[in-house]
Amino acid sequence: MKKYRCVVCGYIYDPALGDPDSGIAPGTPFEEIPDDWSCPVCGVSKEDFEPLEEETKLVKTENEITKEREGKNLTYNEITEGVYFVGAEHWDRRIFDELIPLPDGTSYNAYLVVGKEKTALIDTVDPELMEDLFEHLDRLGIEKIDYIIANHAEQDHSGAIPYVLDEFEGAKVVTNAKAKGMLMDLLDVDEDDFIIIKESEELDLGGKTLKFLMTPWVHWPETMSTYLVEDEILFSCDFFGSHRATSHLFVENEHKVVEDAKRYYAEIMMPFRKHIKKNIEKIEKYKIRFIAPSHGPVYPRPKLIIDAYKDWISDRVENKILIPYISMHESTEIIVKYLTDELVARGLKVIPFNMNKTDLGNFAIELVDAATVIFGSPMVLGGAHPQVVYAAYLANALRPKTKFAGIVGSYGWGGKMVDQIKGLLVNLQAEMLEPVLIKGTPKDEDYDKLDTLADKIAELHKSLE
Ligand code: FEO
Repeated sequence: MKKYRCVVCGYIYDPALGDPDSGIAPGTPFEEIPDDWSCPVCGVSKEDFEPLEEETKLVKTENEITKEREGKNLTYNEITEGVYFVGAEHWDRRIFDELIPLPDGTSYNAYLVVGKEKTALIDTVDPELMEDLFEHLDRLGIEKIDYIIANHAEQDHSGAIPYVLDEFEGAKVVTNAKAKGMLMDLLDVDEDDFIIIKESEELDLGGKTLKFLMTPWVHWPETMSTYLVEDEILFSCDFFGSHRATSHLFVENEHKVVEDAKRYYAEIMMPFRKHIKKNIEKIEKYKIRFIAPSHGPVYPRPKLIIDAYKDWISDRVENKILIPYISMHESTEIIVKYLTDELVARGLKVIPFNMNKTDLGNFAIELVDAATVIFGSPMVLGGAHPQVVYAAYLANALRPKTKFAGIVGSYGWGGKMVDQIKGLLVNLQAEMLEPVLIKGTPKDEDYDKLDTLADKIAELHKSLE
């Protein structure tokens, strides 16, 4: 029986395994899966699957990578000869920037490139785990570091730079002018410790050439990537990263990593879609054998993550409605439940998010490609519930490609919830739908209004097909 691949996220449907969580028993051929089945990873429909040709290499397993590496006498943390992972896994970190949930921890990937004449450290680690970096360097017997390449000034990658400078006398920080200013501001690095490079400039380590590519806004304005010419490795820093602590150097499970990377993209990269497009165009001019990001595993098949990014930054939206909501005394709950049922009855995919119970990362992931977002709230103290205000603020800050937005909710005597939420969504290029505000619990005429809203959304989503 033939396997099928999701063209959006890379998930592979294996008939031998089926999809028991969705009621598809092992042994079910793809052709016999009901038409309303959707990809268990990214939610796209059955139509978005393509047959998997036997000769196509879509999942490179750890074993296959190990086989490729056989005979090369590489160490456990060596990507290719003379290029080592020397970073740290933060297994139990649960929040990033005091904002982003990290259900699976994260990693701070630093890499060491050893040339015949010079040695370069590409990024460092969060200072909290700098002992891990020094232990890696110690195990490798590194006594001299000539260059510390700073692709990004954020402290999870740059924070240990002052300590590396102290430990390795004579080392210089190689970065662009903007990052230099930030590193001096944030970490008090001395001006004399820098070597400033510009777009496409190269640094020869002796048989290993580092080429610097400015890739702004992935994640801050100073971010850049470093390309190792001879080994065709792109050290992309936050770009293409994923928050997960793992003992696997390389991607082990492609669809799982794409899922992690989508969460990362949603939370970190989504506001910078236009910049990402330009940066992808820039890096695609180079032959890339590995993408080595600063979070998560190394990609031995770079096309996997580049194609996923291309889809996420595209204008394509999915037939999907998100309803972030809060209910205080059940009226909004009734409204959201009714609207959800009516939308589902019209063949639409709906995801309600009770904002007091949801992982914000899950809401952010769905914002990546949902066509519509409907905010549901009771009126409280003259406005929306603070948790819904936060959901609107977050959606606005992340700048998703949402096409339609709406507001539903209930009130006791009045307030300015609609104006308040609309005012929070100025960055969304979305058509605002007619709000449905209901006094108390819904009555017959209110259900009619919700039916009209469901009809409107169904009609608009049909136009997306
Ligand atoms: Fe992983 Fe923007 O720091």
